[in-house]
Amino acid sequence: MARVIENAGAWIPFDRFMALALYAPALGYYTQSANPIGKDAKSSDFVTAPEISKFFSKTLARSVLEALDETQTDEVWEFGAGNGTMAQEILTCLGDRIKRYVIVDLSMSLKERQQASLAGFLGQVTWVHELPAQFEGVVLGNEVLDAMPIKLLQRTQGEWFERGISSLSPDKEPHWQFVDRPTSMRPPLIPQGEHDYLTEIHPQAEAFINTLADRLKRGAVFLIDYGFPEHEYYHPERCQGTLMCHRSHLADTNPLVEVGLKDITAHVNFSGIALTAQSAGMHVLGYTSQAHFLINSGLLDLVQDASLQDKAMVQKLITEHEMGELFKVIALGVGDPWEPMGFAHGDRSHTL
Ligand SMILES: C[S@@+](CC[C@H](N)C(=O)[O-])C[C@H]1O[C@@H](n2cnc3c(N)ncnc32)[C@H](O)[C@@H]1O
Repeated sequence: MARVIENAGAWIPFDRFMALALYAPALGYYTQSANPIGKDAKSSDFVTAPEISKFFSKTLARSVLEALDETQTDEVWEFGAGNGTMAQEILTCLGDRIKRYVIVDLSMSLKERQQASLAGFLGQVTWVHELPAQFEGVVLGNEVLDAMPIKLLQRTQGEWFERGISSLSPDKEPHWQFVDRPTSMRPPLIPQGEHDYLTEIHPQAEAFINTLADRLKRGAVFLIDYGFPEHEYYHPERCQGTLMCHRSHLADTNPLVEVGLKDITAHVNFSGIALTAQSAGMHVLGYTSQAHFLINSGLLDLVQDASLQDKAMVQKLITEHEMGELFKVIALGVGDPWEPMGFAHGDRSHTL
């Protein structure tokens, strides 16, 4: 990191720092961490919906099946498959209806975990490092957009700056500091007021959507993550941004310490995702909360005969103060638009 910063002229933008901290070969969090995702705070750093309850993936499988049928495709492409738990459940539910389940992940250590958990499906599952020029199928990504590097923008006394990183003492133990440089970049919605304001923009997540739009020739995309529409994202009161780090199931806001040892994330601007998709020729098929999406997709039927313990975990997925409201689902489509069941009630596309 210190060498990269020095070679770049003693300053790198935050998105470069975040990319290195998370994905640098051997040293980045996702490349070296043995077990980032799980329920146990002693052995993992954070938990995700597929790890909380298998009913998350079982329910999503219903919407995946509908999308495969609607788009007449037979492949699932999952980005950032974590421990492989969601893939395992979806393959169990949909069996031979999925001809090929393709995983795209930047993390080699997670790929090893995925290979172990998907050992029973090796005939159907393949891993690729890059998207081919053309592909068809249903694309899935749970908590992947939030792991894509973001740029930090800071308004100080009415002037906008890009926040980057410099080394504090390049010759000794590396220490990092934030350094702001004047910029012509602005958030897509300028927050009202003159007060100092720190926020993020998401060029890499939007580039990812452009790549999908370019290469997905038939199919649909379901992206699930925490975030909001732009008017909430750039709300005048959200003046400290949404950047968060996670280690041992504790959250903090300082990405400059324990670099490579903790996860760094930011919320998703779903308006930016929707507008990018539309400009690139995709349709927004729906946008709603995780709770609405799961209930519309049949979660309550599936869980009817479950144990009390399973039902308690399902509650976490849908209650407002846990994951139900902060997490959203957006579906994008190529070709003729159709109406996925997941958005039948409570579609909020109009708020984007
Ligand atoms: C927060 S984890 C979520 C893992 C899993 N989906 C889950 O819900 O448990 C983020 C994952 O996204 C992967 N990732 C981040 N950016 C990616 C990209 N551009 N392409 C593919 N995978 C990516 C990371 O390597 C990691 O596996």
